[in-house]
Amino acid sequence: MFEQRIYNFSAGPSMLPVPVLQKCADEMLNYQGSGMSVMEMSHRSKVYDEIIVQAEALFREVMQIPDNYKVLFLQGGASTQFAMVPMNLLRTGKADYVVTGQFSKKAYQEAKKIGSDIHLAGSTESTNFDHVPTQEELDLRPDADYVHICLNNTIFGTKWHYIPDTGNVPLVADMSSCILSEPFDVSKFGLIYAGAQKNIAPAGLTVVIIREDLAGFTLPGTPTMLDYAVQIKNSSMYNTPPCYPIYVCKLVLEWIKELGGLEAMKERNQKKAAILYNVLDESKLFRAVAAPVDRSMMNVTFRTGNEELDAKFVKESVAAGFSNLKGHRSVGGMRASIYNAMPLEGVEKLAVFMKDFEARNL
Ligand SMILES: Cc1ncc(COP(=O)(O)O)c(C=O)c1O
Repeated sequence: MFEQRIYNFSAGPSMLPVPVLQKCADEMLNYQGSGMSVMEMSHRSKVYDEIIVQAEALFREVMQIPDNYKVLFLQGGASTQFAMVPMNLLRTGKADYVVTGQFSKKAYQEAKKIGSDIHLAGSTESTNFDHVPTQEELDLRPDADYVHICLNNTIFGTKWHYIPDTGNVPLVADMSSCILSEPFDVSKFGLIYAGAQKNIAPAGLTVVIIREDLAGFTLPGTPTMLDYAVQIKNSSMYNTPPCYPIYVCKLVLEWIKELGGLEAMKERNQKKAAILYNVLDESKLFRAVAAPVDRSMMNVTFRTGNEELDAKFVKESVAAGFSNLKGHRSVGGMRASIYNAMPLEGVEKLAVFMKDFEARNL
């Protein structure tokens, strides 16, 4: 059955590790003698409690999350965090946003609906988000309630290669497309959030890692479900949590741990990304979209400069056993999303295909 799987370069939802899917299949009908699948059990049962407790413990261990941070398993996707962050973290109405792509722009626009003084502290929109600003280019205010960034820009294929210095102002990061891809120093952030459907689990789960002193200051009128303090107090179980994605998250974290943790994951991911960027740098046909210093390790964007040829590449790639290589409409060209679960072999085969395509079309 697994021989029939294709290499799926989707930006999300994306590939899950085969051993994780296999375990899901093995445990589907009767989870560890419970007589039911994880999808069918009460979230308040003892058997499920062990799953969610382990998922959190593994998250803490794998990401080395300090004790003064809470890990929350929420719903609503990263997009709900665009609103939840300002509703919870704004105290004076003042926050700084750096816009480096479509998602950080959405976060900025959402915050403007809520805060009275939401400031654009940097933007790379004028060059269609092909890079990320330097620290010197940021216009940060020392009295802002927080600074918001998107660490990896899924659509444009760029990444912050440094964690901006925000002084005493808490840094909030959307890590939807890079969480668990390499080690990050959590203590540099006030809050981290990520939709699960790239590196964590299937869609339906959003992970929030929040420094505990930041919770408990929601704006008046904030819905109960959108209050971090309520979610913390109820251990992510104010209502029914996304039970099955949390279970898959636990399996993914076990898989990462078994492979050697985030250092090992980084090494694997660097190797995979280098293969594709090397092909692009040597190519006379393809060109990488992102500025070399800001290239993403997770989303490799490229194009030929000729839309017909791009379309031909995508069409032929499907026939060759690759899927979802078409770039986002706002960038065009192609995008290979190579998250944790993409095997090295998939990237190597894509590199061969690209070189062959070039030889036939140059
Ligand atoms: C960086 C980033 N932020 C936010 C989102 C939106 O996530 P969701 O669909 O979970 O709301 C995405 C989705 O692809 C993303 O890549």
